[in-house]
Amino acid sequence: MLLGVNIDHVATLRQQRKEGDPDLIAATHEVLAGGADGITVHLREDRRHIQDDDVIQLRHIVPRLNLEMAATDEMVQFALGIRPDFVCLVPEKREELTTEGGLDVIRNEGRIESCVDRLQSAGILVSLFIDPEIPQVQAAQRVGAAYVELHTGVYAVEVESRVPLRALQAAASYAKLLGVRVNAGHGLKYHNVSAIARISEIEELNIGHSIVARALTVGLRQAVVEMKLLVL
Ligand code: PXP
Repeated sequence: MLLGVNIDHVATLRQQRKEGDPDLIAATHEVLAGGADGITVHLREDRRHIQDDDVIQLRHIVPRLNLEMAATDEMVQFALGIRPDFVCLVPEKREELTTEGGLDVIRNEGRIESCVDRLQSAGILVSLFIDPEIPQVQAAQRVGAAYVELHTGVYAVEVESRVPLRALQAAASYAKLLGVRVNAGHGLKYHNVSAIARISEIEELNIGHSIVARALTVGLRQAVVEMKLLVL
């Protein structure tokens, strides 16, 4: 299983002072040296952490760049200019602390289909960040997305319950049956990632907060090494 590391929170810390520290590019090199297979960044509408220039610079040094963004015209235009390897379409609310739920593909089918079409026609593979629900998986297939990224947030807070894990397994199996490739992420930590890593249909996990938090005690490279060992 591949590990994509979300480095938004390195930029969150930098934006507290806007003085360039910590250096996002140096951090990216550390993450890659630790064995990350890809780098994920979320360019939010309010630019609260990652900035447009960050994405432009990262494009030059990251072999597998995954850009998370809202399904808007502004963002599609930006992505078409940058050409990341992957775009993950996420729902976005200004007041949220993080991406709280999955995209409602069913209610926004037309708009999402148009974004998927424009991006994938330009050679950018699109994943849709969805809750692990069968109707959303079906809608993702209908709009032609190459991937879904299953939201693991409920699993991460209810790790003792088998229900969210079963939902993730079922959604992953069903997506694969429909020919949609599967990634997963959100809220995954060192102590809860293993059960998700055992779901064989999942190709890649995108993990951010727990790795950046652990980096404060062991360093970024080592924090990635430790997560990579759990994900393998
Ligand atoms: N995947 C997606 C689509 C996300 O929006 C996020 C959070 O930015 C993550 C993965 C990573 O979540 P976390 O920071 O909780 O590991």
